[in-house]
Amino acid sequence: MLNDDPAGRALLDRLPEPLPPEQIIALNRPKADLHTVRHYEWNGWSFEVPPGVFLPGATSRMIHERLLDGTIDVRGRAYAAMGAGLGVEAVVAGLRGAREVYAIDVHPGSVDTTRRYYEQLVGNRASTTFVPVVADVFDGFTGGPLDVVTFNPPAVSQTVSDDPDIVRNVCVGSSLLERFFAQLAERELLAPDGEVFVIVSNTADLRAIVEHALDHGFRPEVHYLHDWRDGVQTYLFRVRQGKNA
Ligand SMILES: C[S@@+](CC[C@H](N)C(=O)[O-])C[C@H]1O[C@@H](n2cnc3c(N)ncnc32)[C@H](O)[C@@H]1O
Repeated sequence: MLNDDPAGRALLDRLPEPLPPEQIIALNRPKADLHTVRHYEWNGWSFEVPPGVFLPGATSRMIHERLLDGTIDVRGRAYAAMGAGLGVEAVVAGLRGAREVYAIDVHPGSVDTTRRYYEQLVGNRASTTFVPVVADVFDGFTGGPLDVVTFNPPAVSQTVSDDPDIVRNVCVGSSLLERFFAQLAERELLAPDGEVFVIVSNTADLRAIVEHALDHGFRPEVHYLHDWRDGVQTYLFRVRQGKNA
């Protein structure tokens, strides 16, 4: 059921192919320290990153900065951080005055870490409800409708390690986005004016990902494009309900 939206087709046509496999593998060579405690500093905050929890990188910060400066506007809105990881998105959304903050991750350790930092850096606020959720994408999620969703998915198209924690954080591939868009659509989780921000680069199969959004009746557009000058291009897509949704 390929979406016949001409804008969607034009977007597909101008997206780059994935980089060559050997370049993707070289760019995503796993660090040996995922199973250790690491540290992360951002925006004046200090985080201890427990074993197995994703250490935010430059791509993560493209979302974090936009939540912080209001480019991704969560004030008074129901927000879900899909793949919450360390919890930075949830913390920023709470401080920016989201009405509901759902921190969703398949990894219980990430959800627990997010809860801990939310309590420490945001705390109780009368106008914000914080809901930590362990779920496989939206399987296990009972909230909604959602006004804003962000997702920095583990969409790298090459398997860069046999370690299941590295795969979960980095390289599940585009099939995860298929399930993400299918569940958003079938469970009608997105509010009529809702916005989904998905950040992916050409180390992933960008066309397959955009095609999954189109196939489920969504309207993707390029919100921001960053060229890292090493062959990697990172796309921040904004995805909204299609006209017929
Ligand atoms: C690239 S990390 C991003 C973490 C954080 N949002 C950030 O940007 O720093 C991907 C996150 O997605 C989570 N994840 C992987 N598969 C998932 C699934 N099926 N459902 C929910 N979360 C998943 C991982 O545990 C990890 O925390």
